Amino acid sequence: MSLNKTIKGLKTSFSKELSKSKTSQELENFRIKYLGRNGKLASLFEEFNKLPANEKPRFGKELNILKNQLTNLYQDALGNNNENSSSNDTDFSLPGYSLPNGSIHPLEQITSEIKSIFQSIGFSVAYGPEIDDDYHNFEALNVPKHHPARDMQDTFFVNPNAVLRTHTSNVQIHLMENQDPPLRHICCGRVFRNEAVSYKSFCLFNQVEGLVVNETSSFAEMKGTLEYFVREMFGKDTKMRFRPSYFPFTEPSAEVDIWNSKLDQWMEILGCGMVNPNVLSNVGYDNKKYQGFAFGMGIERIAMIKYGIKDIRLFYQNDKRFLEQF
Ligand code: PHE
Repeated sequence: MSLNKTIKGLKTSFSKELSKSKTSQELENFRIKYLGRNGKLASLFEEFNKLPANEKPRFGKELNILKNQLTNLYQDALGNNNENSSSNDTDFSLPGYSLPNGSIHPLEQITSEIKSIFQSIGFSVAYGPEIDDDYHNFEALNVPKHHPARDMQDTFFVNPNAVLRTHTSNVQIHLMENQDPPLRHICCGRVFRNEAVSYKSFCLFNQVEGLVVNETSSFAEMKGTLEYFVREMFGKDTKMRFRPSYFPFTEPSAEVDIWNSKLDQWMEILGCGMVNPNVLSNVGYDNKKYQGFAFGMGIERIAMIKYGIKDIRLFYQNDKRFLEQF
């Protein structure tokens, strides 16, 4: 039977030609010629359709075996051909997977911005202990035991005499104990308060403290310094106001509010004042000769105002979706 011969002939020429096809282009031409929609194998199936019904089962089976054999041979040839990139699962021309970039934590960004603003007007950066004794955190700052002002800052005690500092003002005392005037320092760091955690307060936050002590500093100089800071930080048209306030370690004292035009309200950003003469004498300074001013601000608060963040806890949850935005 002629179909029988054709099958054998096809097998032979298939193998011969396949062994000569080397490049991927040759292999592709080969595939079209033999296995393509109008190729030799397809025309065999057409002839098969014309066969009388009683011959169909036998040839049908043979043709299907042939089809499988030829396809396998072709696939093997393709797999062995190194030039063909799909023969190898690695496509070296694909771009690599990119690893997610880390980013600097928003609090760190704000802190370094604050530092560089104050450094540009001659402040040095100082550091102080997060665990301190009652004396440096309270007593030397003119906050004696049982003073009602201690209630302003709920304290974590490490032991009866050691506290997690409730503000960075403890660094004022360390600085003054260790050097003579003139002083012009800022200090950034963590502070701790035993407060109910909510969207607006967390048990830990960051402050920047400023301290200037010399023979001439004045309330006016403090105002100018803080106005400069606010303009640099929030933009030169930012409205701000000084409001009388009270801190045991400064006299007179004030708080600074800036106008938040998005929320249409004043927002407190820092406390400040002239260093209380009692504090100067506590560290052995001559309070007739020297005077100074100090200020303290919450970094989270500044970041929240600047970036429109509504929940302080976000800074401490390490949620990448939040952090990636900065
Ligand atoms: N220590 C004060 C606070 O934590 C802020 C402050 C610092 C006020 C320095 C005046 C001078 O609220």
